[in-house]
Amino acid sequence: MAVAVHPKDVASQEFMISRRGQKICDDFARGAFLANAGARLMSQGYFDSISKPKGIVDFGVSENKLMFDVFEKKLAEPKIQKLAPHMLFYDVMAGNMRFRGALAEFLTERLNAAKPLDPKNLRVCNGAGPMMELVATSIGDPGDCLMMPMPCYGGVFWDVGGRAEIEVVPVHLTSKMEEGDTRPFQLTAKKIEDTYNKATAEGKKIVGILLINPHNPLGDIYSAELIMDILNFCHKHSLHVIMDEIYMMSIFDTEAKYTSVLSLPNIPDPQRVHMVWGFAKDFCMSGMRCGVLYSVNEAVNKAVDALVYFNMIPGPIQHILTEIVLDKEWLDKVFIPTKYSRMREARSYMCDKLSALGIPVRKSPSGLYIWADFRKYIQPLTPENELVLFEKFMDAGVYLTPGIEAFNCGEPGYFRMVFTVYRDHLEVGMERIAAVLKDCAENGLTKPQGANAEAPASANVKEESLEDLLGLLQGRISSSGWLEETRTQNWATQNPEALEQFKQAMKSQEGSGDK
Ligand SMILES: Cc1ncc(COP(=O)(O)O)c(C=O)c1O
Repeated sequence: MAVAVHPKDVASQEFMISRRGQKICDDFARGAFLANAGARLMSQGYFDSISKPKGIVDFGVSENKLMFDVFEKKLAEPKIQKLAPHMLFYDVMAGNMRFRGALAEFLTERLNAAKPLDPKNLRVCNGAGPMMELVATSIGDPGDCLMMPMPCYGGVFWDVGGRAEIEVVPVHLTSKMEEGDTRPFQLTAKKIEDTYNKATAEGKKIVGILLINPHNPLGDIYSAELIMDILNFCHKHSLHVIMDEIYMMSIFDTEAKYTSVLSLPNIPDPQRVHMVWGFAKDFCMSGMRCGVLYSVNEAVNKAVDALVYFNMIPGPIQHILTEIVLDKEWLDKVFIPTKYSRMREARSYMCDKLSALGIPVRKSPSGLYIWADFRKYIQPLTPENELVLFEKFMDAGVYLTPGIEAFNCGEPGYFRMVFTVYRDHLEVGMERIAAVLKDCAENGLTKPQGANAEAPASANVKEESLEDLLGLLQGRISSSGWLEETRTQNWATQNPEALEQFKQAMKSQEGSGDK
């Protein structure tokens, strides 16, 4: 009997990978927006006022670049530089006990924990995103669902969806205030309950909720009351709560009151509460790859112990991070005050520039970014036009992330802008944004024409290296407008003589290839 061949199977055969491998590629490609933007950033190159003035200013990636000089000094200390033999051998996969002990002490203090954290309940792996995968794999089966307030950090779809195959069910927050709201995009336990009821009525199996506190991209901090309301709701329905607190030490507003889930004395269902943190944001070291889990659930911890074999952090990195969190004096006298003062300065620079351009920003006490409202420049206000504005920014040499594509925001008009970048980047990036908005105000929001990745007019053009040219070409290929206009058919009709020569050359090659 003839078996129908699925197009995916053809692709798998063609590329000699498994169906599972192909499915992973397909799923990843669905979240291609950020990957494409990243590829364009890489190919066109990041802005540097001396070596790459035509490069793109990065207000998109949530990283704190303000502290490199401080870490450069810190990491050169002899104590940190000193290797010991055990660091080069196998060790406990979920983190060596010295590191876990140091982290337990550090987090007990910084999270104002209700009781001292026990290193036995703590695990580390190569990033908070990967840690979410490990927890999601442990608490849900493929096809099960986790609720999550949206807009949200977009990586989560890959973190829990990629291999754990957990579906993310959005709790949509909007700019329109509902009864009881005091601000736009406000999370309430009622909105979670409504989402839960709707999803379960549709037959979805909800196993828990994933919350980010402090929030990415809104920068909000949840009150103790809201967290307790959510915990009680989840307890009632036996739902897990993954609390991602990766920005807990990125709260620049001294007046803000932060409540970690671990600081609450009476968590109704502690077995189903899992706190995740990491070094990428608060310690400005996304490249060190370290995420932390604190859970009192022994079964979850056992599953993570088994899985973490795939995600272990190298011994020398654990050593460096141990020394950093143990140095309380340096944390309190150097690192934290310097970081917050630089963050406040950078943020107020960006806010002032945006305010001069008439862009409202969300008032928020935390995060490395600003949630900015560009609606007045997007006319008509549609998701497509949000992307048109995004492309115009990219063409002008500045990358900021659009709300719908990057954060699953339910309405157009919002962008997240990371302000924790060097001062010259802030200045040039804001100049480029101002130029784009001036153009929009004068000429309306028109689609960029043709060669999208052209360098900004103001850029100081240096000699073109081969690398630059390749970068420019790749940038153009990855920008849809150029691709549309440079299809083979178009090229063929516009260059008949060249086409004929090309055909002749191909003919003479026939039969000469490897067999
Ligand atoms: C809220 C949130 N959680 C987790 C992550 C991933 O962190 P890591 O780089 O440690 O995997 C990010 C990164 O942007 C994030 O914003």
